[in-house]
Amino acid sequence: NKGKYEHYMQKEIHEQPESLTTTMRGRLIRGGSCKAKSVLLGGLKDHLKTIRRSRRIVFIGCGTSYNAALAARPILEELSGVPVTMEIASDLSDRQGPIYREDTAVFVSQSGETADTLHALEYALENGALCVGITNTVGSAIARTTHCGIHINAGCEIGVASTKAYTSQIVVMAMMALAIGGDTMSKQARREAIIDGLFYLPNKVREVLKLDQDMKDLAKLLIAEQSLLVFGRGYNYATALEGALKVKEVSLMHSEGILAGEMKHGPLALVDESLPIVVIATRDACFSKQQSVIQQLHARKGRLIVMCSQGDAASVCLGGSCRVIEVPQVEDCLQPVVNIVPLQLLAYHLTVLRGYNVDQPRNLAKSVTTQ
Ligand code: F6R
Repeated sequence: NKGKYEHYMQKEIHEQPESLTTTMRGRLIRGGSCKAKSVLLGGLKDHLKTIRRSRRIVFIGCGTSYNAALAARPILEELSGVPVTMEIASDLSDRQGPIYREDTAVFVSQSGETADTLHALEYALENGALCVGITNTVGSAIARTTHCGIHINAGCEIGVASTKAYTSQIVVMAMMALAIGGDTMSKQARREAIIDGLFYLPNKVREVLKLDQDMKDLAKLLIAEQSLLVFGRGYNYATALEGALKVKEVSLMHSEGILAGEMKHGPLALVDESLPIVVIATRDACFSKQQSVIQQLHARKGRLIVMCSQGDAASVCLGGSCRVIEVPQVEDCLQPVVNIVPLQLLAYHLTVLRGYNVDQPRNLAKSVTTQ
């Protein structure tokens, strides 16, 4: 039931304040006066010691689920102190890459039925790793086959393009990082700031959804373009990849997410006065580096659309020549949850304006059960 919405993708984008709330329900403990703030993940608690002792944590997934894991990787590295590596499921199988008994392998999947991910899971089980599932479907193959896991609880997702599952996946993995890192006193203040950030996150997403009309206006400007680049780095490298994936899969416009640190190593050659480029430059430790990326793109007359934190328009938009998307600022590791929303809206409006089927893009299926 689409309710007041025209499409499932639109409904699912707009229900993210609620889906995020459901994902966190009963899992955040904000303590009393003497009780520390913490998270409780029932499906993981008996395995936390093993995960903390593991030699590395390997995230495995495809498409949007891989991107969600990429967004959560920095906070997991920071809080757990365990090396975290990333694998696209099909690539791990193609290479028969090394997976060891001492590894924790985390399988991320909205449907829980993706053949590539399931195949990589069977491989990791054979190799003796502890296998953790993060899925949105209770009773799915991946939920059943892993040793333990966390349900995303984002509610049923119908649009082929994953939206609310993505933001809930990031939140689940941020909570996982908090749970794994929960025994280090030195990071207690950081953990509490993130827990507070999670608590306020649904309202910040509600706020960023107000950009709907702005994103529709931007989509009108971009409707006839051939291509759109998205530059991000740090926590928002994943936002660049995921924003570009949304645009290409539903609006059928070529789009590429680019790690801004790689700009000079090739992509800079593409920059001219006509190619639209989204640069994600919200406040975090990478902000000054992104400012210098903007300067360099500006010097080459790039057609810039800059996403920045509220109040930062003047410091990112040189000479007032670019379009700005101002978003509310949240704790740095949660910023990808806020930042993807305008790009989801942009992909949605571009698709509708271009006259394509937004809920069922050509050639794609919701659950990819063949390899
Ligand atoms: C993109 C999209 C796909 C899926 C991918 C993995 O919007 O939906 O890229 O993310 O097929 O699917 P799951 O998460 O079900 O394993």
